Amino acid sequence: MASSSTPTAKPGYMLSRGFTANTRIALQHYLWKDGLNYLLHPSIPTTSKDLKIAEIGVGTGIWLIELARTLPPTVQLDGLDISFGQCPPKEWLPQNIAWVTHDAFSEPPEELLEKYDVIHVQLFITLIRDGNPVPMLKNLIKMLKPGGYISWGEWDVATWEVIRIPSAPSQTNEELNELREYTSTLGKTRPGPSFISSGWITRLHQTFAENGLSNVIVDRHKFSTEIATLLLDTWMVASQEISANILDGLGGGQGDVARALVEEVGKNRGNTAFNLERVITIGQKPLK
Ligand SMILES: C[S@@+](CC[C@H](N)C(=O)[O-])C[C@H]1O[C@@H](n2cnc3c(N)ncnc32)[C@H](O)[C@@H]1O
Repeated sequence: MASSSTPTAKPGYMLSRGFTANTRIALQHYLWKDGLNYLLHPSIPTTSKDLKIAEIGVGTGIWLIELARTLPPTVQLDGLDISFGQCPPKEWLPQNIAWVTHDAFSEPPEELLEKYDVIHVQLFITLIRDGNPVPMLKNLIKMLKPGGYISWGEWDVATWEVIRIPSAPSQTNEELNELREYTSTLGKTRPGPSFISSGWITRLHQTFAENGLSNVIVDRHKFSTEIATLLLDTWMVASQEISANILDGLGGGQGDVARALVEEVGKNRGNTAFNLERVITIGQKPLK
């Protein structure tokens, strides 16, 4: 059995797939769009009626559902994921949305090679392990048509800042930072901040260029402070999910420590939160 002294086992999917998790990722989607006002970055051309667009890791499917409303029904919208259990029934979706079972960390099969004009990825921060997005990026580039675009959005945790109203008790920022460190190092069993790390996100534009993508654009936006409390809520729910799914299994009481920290942070929900930048990195696969 794994314990805090044997932290070598690779954890699987760290988040949950129940209704609380569905609510969390749906809210994350709406908060992500707040003040951004686009689903796909406006530099990505979407006028062709024959576009093939893929989203990698669909969550509830809400991004593709919304995108379908903005594009002609002739556009093909594929969601690539290892599970579609968080999505609505197929019968209730537009006909041009399809689910394709595919692990983004695996070599793409023949039928997915050079298939897509646009590939969209968002919030893979808990899935990119050891700070290295390159293996997955290489797989995605193989699925892009020459001239196609990849758009990858993440929270840039390097820009994290605790925000507090003046009357907040003085310890609240420490509790929030401690919870962040505790979950991102899996109860301090992984060297922080390299496990759920942020360095790769800050450098993603360089990684795009190093892997042959051109016309690289970076778009960064902080959240509005008006919605920072809701962002905190989503993050506390995610911390509870990681506590139950991963930290409890480590066997050293780490799940309880994290839940106690979530409770402390929750007590100050009315006066303390955090903010950070959403960073959207866009690149184009060169024409042959
Ligand atoms: C990483 S989040 C992204 C959710 C969505 N993009 C969003 O912004 O809310 C969760 C999704 O990634 C999917 N996922 C997890 N591991 C994956 C993998 N190896 N390949 C493809 N998708 C994966 C999960 O099944 C889940 O649907």
